[in-house]
Formats: sequence, structure tokens, C-alpha cells
Amino acid sequence: MSDTHTQENTHEDGHSEDPSRRDFIYIATGAAAAVGAGSVAWPLVSQMGAAADTRAAGSIEIDISKVAEGQQIKALWRGKPVFVRHRTAAEIAAAEADDAADLIDPQADADRFVPTPEGNINPAILVMVGVCTHFGCIPVGEAGDFNGWYCPCHGSHYDTSGRIRKGPAPKNLEIPTYSYVSDSVIKVG
Ligand code: FES
Repeated sequence: MSDTHTQENTHEDGHSEDPSRRDFIYIATGAAAAVGAGSVAWPLVSQMGAAADTRAAGSIEIDISKVAEGQQIKALWRGKPVFVRHRTAAEIAAAEADDAADLIDPQADADRFVPTPEGNINPAILVMVGVCTHFGCIPVGEAGDFNGWYCPCHGSHYDTSGRIRKGPAPKNLEIPTYSYVSDSVIKVG
């Protein structure tokens, strides 16, 4: 059975999509061949290239080159949504500037990334489990007081690093186990 992907397409200015719609658009990877021109509007994250043993172990591979700056995609991994956001320069700057803020769950922005194949940090590509650390709702992107993620269930605000800044959630959005397979592909799990 093919794996199922969930993905969303967001825009930096957020002008054209209602967040409530945006967060609940589901596309099956197995339908990729039939998407055709639609893939321009809804870039697919393919895990078709993942080896069978990789899939069996519960890992997924995501082509991050398909995620444009200011966009976020959502993949399904072990039953949970994984957000991959290509942050803008302004989002990166805001996250790094707030390293020194009074954080609820202190963590430097740079510590929320794994090294690329060259051993560097790529702060543009943020990978997180898209589950609120309060009671497990799925936060909405480009929202909240810190323009990061907002969980509408009980009002938790996360910043552009996915760190909890306000509301009842106790922890930052989780960084899943992941690694770079190449400069353009990550493996989650
Ligand atoms: S589940 Fe997100 S704030 Fe309660």
C-alpha cells in the first residue's frame, strides 16, 4: 500500500488561502502521476524514491527543493503531520533575534536543525512535528502573535522557530529525528 502524504501550500503573504482550508488539504502520494499540471499549484513531496526497507522502518524522504521560500508542506509520518517550512530571511532573523528572549522552553534557533551533508546548518528549512505540545491539535502556520504557528484549540502561540511563546502548551514544537540524504532530500525517521 502506498504511503499517504498530507501537504499544504502556504504563501509568504498569506493573501490567497484561508488557513482553515489550507491546513486540511490532503493529497495522496499515489495520485502523483495523475496530478499533472496541478502539481504546479500544489507541489508534491515525493517519497516514491524511498527504498522499501526505508518505508518499512517508518521513514519518509522529502524533496525539500520543491518547497519554495515562504511555503510550508505537510507530510504524514507515523500517523503524525510533519511540517517542512522554507523560512524567509525575515522569519530566520526574527527567530534568531528571539534566542535571547524569555522563552518558556529555552532553545536556540540553531539548535533546532541537523547538519547538511556539508556539515552546515540550513536555517531556511525548518522541520517539525506539527502537533501542539498541549493536547495535540494541529497548529496553523503563519499565525499567532509571533507570526509562526498558532494552535486554535486553546490559544498557544509558537514563533518562527516553532518555540512556544504564549499559551498553555509547555514545550516547543518537536523536532523529529531526521537527516539530510543529499542537499535536496531529507529523511524523517
Ligand atoms: S492543544 Fe494546542 S493549545 Fe491546547
